[in-house]
Amino acid sequence: MAAASSSHKLTSPSKSPEVISGMFNRIAQTYDLLNDCMTGGMHRVWKAQACQALHLEPGAMALDVCTGTGDMANLLSRHVGPKGQVIGIDFSDQMLAIAQKRFSHIDNIQWHQGDALALPFPDNHFDGCLISFGLRNVSSVHQALSEMVRVTKPGGWVVNLDTASDCRNPLFWLYFSWVMPMLGNFLAKDRYAYQYLFQSTKTFESPQGIQSIFQSLGLVNTGIRYFGLGSVALQCGQKPEGL
Ligand SMILES: C[S@@+](CC[C@H](N)C(=O)[O-])C[C@H]1O[C@@H](n2cnc3c(N)ncnc32)[C@H](O)[C@@H]1O
Repeated sequence: MAAASSSHKLTSPSKSPEVISGMFNRIAQTYDLLNDCMTGGMHRVWKAQACQALHLEPGAMALDVCTGTGDMANLLSRHVGPKGQVIGIDFSDQMLAIAQKRFSHIDNIQWHQGDALALPFPDNHFDGCLISFGLRNVSSVHQALSEMVRVTKPGGWVVNLDTASDCRNPLFWLYFSWVMPMLGNFLAKDRYAYQYLFQSTKTFESPQGIQSIFQSLGLVNTGIRYFGLGSVALQCGQKPEGL
């Protein structure tokens, strides 16, 4: 394990809905600015790759779980085109308020307030379903992915994009544990939220572990891709016919 991280003895931070939604409500106003600052804008490239991995056709129905301020829903809306439909769901009203404001001019996105662990949609409803930088925050990774698989149609893809707990680059861990909380303190006035980012990454399921959950839920053609010098990982899998 990287030298910078081995001195930290971490337990998983609280993932209670009140704590997590409260934290995102607090940082909603500066969330997009911080994303651009912390990744040098690279999160946009990774998100575009995650959208591609859903293999959506024009006219498709797509779900963006933990949509936050709506970046992914916006990208997906372009993929599915005017005849398609995108739903972005999140439990933070303040994050959703920003999403609605940013993308009020886009007709084919609907915003829902709701829980990723109990998606309010029927089985086999969407042509593709993704979650971006959200899975790390839920109290049950298995339950969230199980819900995503349930609402995806056979033949459709499920995609997760998030920070990678198995990153071996010590500079990344230094950056995550020191620079990001300082930036968070300076720009969002919330050091805790950006310390949480480090803690939740460090204690998160590994990309291989997430891929194993994909497989245990019956997804096929699973794969992993790394971005950002191994600091971010994408897992994808396809729901087979009959599942
Ligand atoms: C780091 S943000 C990611 C936002 C966006 N997907 C992105 O990539 O920029 C995580 C989001 O997940 C939401 N979230 C966390 N747990 C959730 C849950 N159980 N149900 C719904 N939303 C949840 C938070 O409110 C927050 O908006």
